Amino acid sequence: MTFERNILCIGAGYVGGPTMAMIAYRCPRYRVTVVDVNREKIDQWNSDDLPIYEPGLDEIVRAVRGKNLFFSTDIPKAIEENDIIFVSVNTPTKNYGVGAGMAADLQFWEKTAREILKYSKSPKIVIEKSTLPVKTALAMERILNSNHHGIAFDVLSNPEFLAEGTAVRDLTNPDRVLIGSEETERGLCARNILVEIYANWVPRERILTSNIWSSELSKLVSNAFLAQRISSINAISALCEKTDADITEVSRAVGTDSRIGPKFLNSSIGFGGSCFKKDILNLVYLCRHYGLTEVADYWEGVLKINDYQQDRFVLTMIDAMFNTLSGKKICVWGFAFKADTGDTRESPAIRITKRLVEENALVIVSDPKALKNARADLRGLEDRVSFVEDPMEAVKGCHALCVLTEWDLYRHQDFEAVYASMAKPSFLFDGRNILDHGKCFRIGFNVYPIGKPPMTHFQ
Ligand code: NAD
Ligand code: UGA
Repeated sequence: MTFERNILCIGAGYVGGPTMAMIAYRCPRYRVTVVDVNREKIDQWNSDDLPIYEPGLDEIVRAVRGKNLFFSTDIPKAIEENDIIFVSVNTPTKNYGVGAGMAADLQFWEKTAREILKYSKSPKIVIEKSTLPVKTALAMERILNSNHHGIAFDVLSNPEFLAEGTAVRDLTNPDRVLIGSEETERGLCARNILVEIYANWVPRERILTSNIWSSELSKLVSNAFLAQRISSINAISALCEKTDADITEVSRAVGTDSRIGPKFLNSSIGFGGSCFKKDILNLVYLCRHYGLTEVADYWEGVLKINDYQQDRFVLTMIDAMFNTLSGKKICVWGFAFKADTGDTRESPAIRITKRLVEENALVIVSDPKALKNARADLRGLEDRVSFVEDPMEAVKGCHALCVLTEWDLYRHQDFEAVYASMAKPSFLFDGRNILDHGKCFRIGFNVYPIGKPPMTHFQ
C-alpha cells in the first residue's frame, strides 16, 4: 500500500511514542515510524509490554502497530525514507560546564540535527517536538542549512502539551495544538502541511499558529504558569497550617472565581515530573542571559517554594513523631510523581524518602506501577529501603504511613485493617489530601494533612 505521507519521529519516549501512536491511529493514510537509539526501548514498543504505562495507550498501539505505525532503531534509513520528521529527544537540564544546573542540555537534540543532515537525500520538514529554549530553531536551521547538497529544510516548532497519565485523552482532545513557523512563503507552506495533519482529528479553531519564537517560548511559559499555581497554593498551605484555615476550602473559594478557575489548585508535597523544574530553570537561565534579573528571580521563587514544601513535609513528620525517626518504620504509599504513571522523574517521593533515610528511618516503598523506577532512584539505599507492591502488606508494623502519590487505590483501602496492622501510636501523613481524614482520625490515627489543622489524640 502507498501512503499519503511518510512521517518519522526521532525519540521514542513519553512524548514520541504516544503522539505518533495517535497520529497513526487517527490518520490511516499516513505511515508513521518512530526511531530511537535505545534498542531495549524499541523492542518494548514492539512487544506487549510497552516501555511506559499510560492508560489507553496499549489499545491504540495494538490497533495500528505493524499496519501504519512502526518502531525501529535504523535511524539512517528512517531519515532517508521520510520527509516529515518530528524530533522528540530528551532535553534535560545541563549538568556540566556553562549553565550547569540551569540551562537545557541540547546535546541529544544537536546530534539529531546532524544525523538528519547526514542522512537526508531530499527536502524535509523538521519539527521541534521537544521543549527547547527560545531561538533553538535558529540553531537547527543553521546546522541543517550548512549542507552542500542543496537540500532544503524547513524547521517548525510544535511543542507538546500532553500530561502523563492522561496522554491519550490529551492527544485525542487537546485544548490546543501550537505550530510556529517562519513567516516566509516556505515557512507558511510547511506550517500548512502540519496543520493538515492535525486537522484529521483536531478542530481547526484549536490549531493555533504563530511565529516560531512565540511557539517555543509559549511552551516554557505554559509549564511555568502551571507550576506557579501549584507553588502559590502550596505557599498558602503553610499559612493555613499556622492559622487553622483549611487549604481545600481556600482553594475552592479562590478557584470558583471564573477569572482564576479551579484547576491546578490541589495542595500537595510539591510538583514533580521531568519537565516543570527543568523548564523553569531553563526560563530562569534565559532571563538571566538577557539581563532580566528581577524576572529570573520571580520565576525561581516557584522552584524554591516547591523544595520548601517537600522539606516542610519531612519536618512535620519529625516534629509529630517526637523529634526522632531513628529506627522507625515508615511506609510510603506512592512513588510516581503523579497518579496513573510509572514515571518517577523528579518525583517529590525521591527527595522525601532520602530525607527519611538521613533520619535513620526504615522506609517501605509501595506503588502499583513505579517500583522498577523507584528501585533505580534509590539504588545504594537498599539497607534502609525496601519495596513492597501490596499497600496492605507494605504498611504492616509501620509507625507511620505517608501518602505521596494520589493513586485512586489508596482512597479505597480498609483503614480499620491498616490501623490494626500498624505500630502504635500510628501516624498518617497525607501528602496529597486524598484520604477521609475525619474517618481515619476516628479509627485512631494521628492525622497530618497538608494545609489543614492536624487531628491528633494527644493532649
Ligand atoms: P524521554 O527521555 O522519555 O524520551 C526521549 C527519547 O529520545 C529517549 O528514548 C532517548 O533514547 C531518545 N534519544 C535521545 N537522543 C537520541 C538520538 N540522537 N537519536 C534517537 N533517539 C534519541 O523524554 P520525553 O519525556 O519523551 O520528553 C521528550 C521531550 O518532550 C523533552 O524535551 C520534554 O521536555 C518534552 N515534553 C515531555 C512531556 C512529558 O510528559 N514527558 C510532555 C511535553 C513535552
Ligand atoms: C505537565 C503539564 O501539565 C503538561 O501540559 C506538559 O506538557 C508537561 O508537564 C511537560 O511539558 O512535560 P505532567 O508533568 O505530566 O504535565 O503532569 P501534571 O499533571 O502537570 O502534574 C505535574 C506535577 O504537579 C505532579 O507531580 C502533580 O502531582 C502536581 N500537581 C498537579 C499538584 O501538586 N497539584 C495540582 O493541582 C496539579
